[in-house]
Amino acid sequence: MIIDAHSSTPLQRYKILSNTITPRPIAWVSTIFPNGGINLAPFSFFAPISVNPPIFSLCIMQKSDGSQKDTFRNITQSKRATISMCELSHLEALQNSSNELDFNVSEASEFGISLEIIESNYPPVPQGIKVAFMCELYDVLELGDSKSVLLEAKSFYIADEIYTQDLNFLPQFIGRVGRIYKSPGSQIFLQNNHEKKD
Ligand SMILES: Cc1cc2nc3c(=O)[nH]c(=O)nc-3n(C[C@H](O)[C@H](O)[C@H](O)COP(=O)(O)O)c2cc1C
Repeated sequence: MIIDAHSSTPLQRYKILSNTITPRPIAWVSTIFPNGGINLAPFSFFAPISVNPPIFSLCIMQKSDGSQKDTFRNITQSKRATISMCELSHLEALQNSSNELDFNVSEASEFGISLEIIESNYPPVPQGIKVAFMCELYDVLELGDSKSVLLEAKSFYIADEIYTQDLNFLPQFIGRVGRIYKSPGSQIFLQNNHEKKD
């Protein structure tokens, strides 16, 4: 089967990419609303695209009413975001934080997700995070309907309990949570809001 990309629908394209490029790690992104509240949202169209400088891309689609997602609005306004790599223990909170709430309504407050400040100049992270990247906006790529933000990590947080001087952490100490991660006998499946349009 060959599917023509141009004549396929956005949902078909989304499903093909989403179901074939797996597993994808999840960026759990914290940003700050103009009212000071903290926005949290997971993104799986996320990748490190450069090492020097350390830059991540985040593909941010639109809300169901076609407006920009809060994460995009906050990043373009405040120019900052913190990306957390979440732990298994965060799964429920991560899933809750993908709910579509009104602008200026914090998922952290709404779902009782406790936060901690790693660096005072950057949005706080959910408590218990072991790896986070404090980022500044590097660029915005306007790619058709979706917008990809490029975020440059200005500092790296590695919790003392997993940090080693040679930086060769053992993978089992890092949260292995992704869009679909399968380990023998278990499967973690995170339902993405976009798939609910089926
Ligand atoms: C596992 C998972 C992965 C997601 N990945 C993306 C993504 O890559 N891009 C996107 O636009 N939305 C993605 N979403 C949906 C957003 O998290 C959701 O639209 C959220 O409400 C956006 O919040 P915001 O408006 O506060 O930015 C994902 C949701 C889940 C549960």
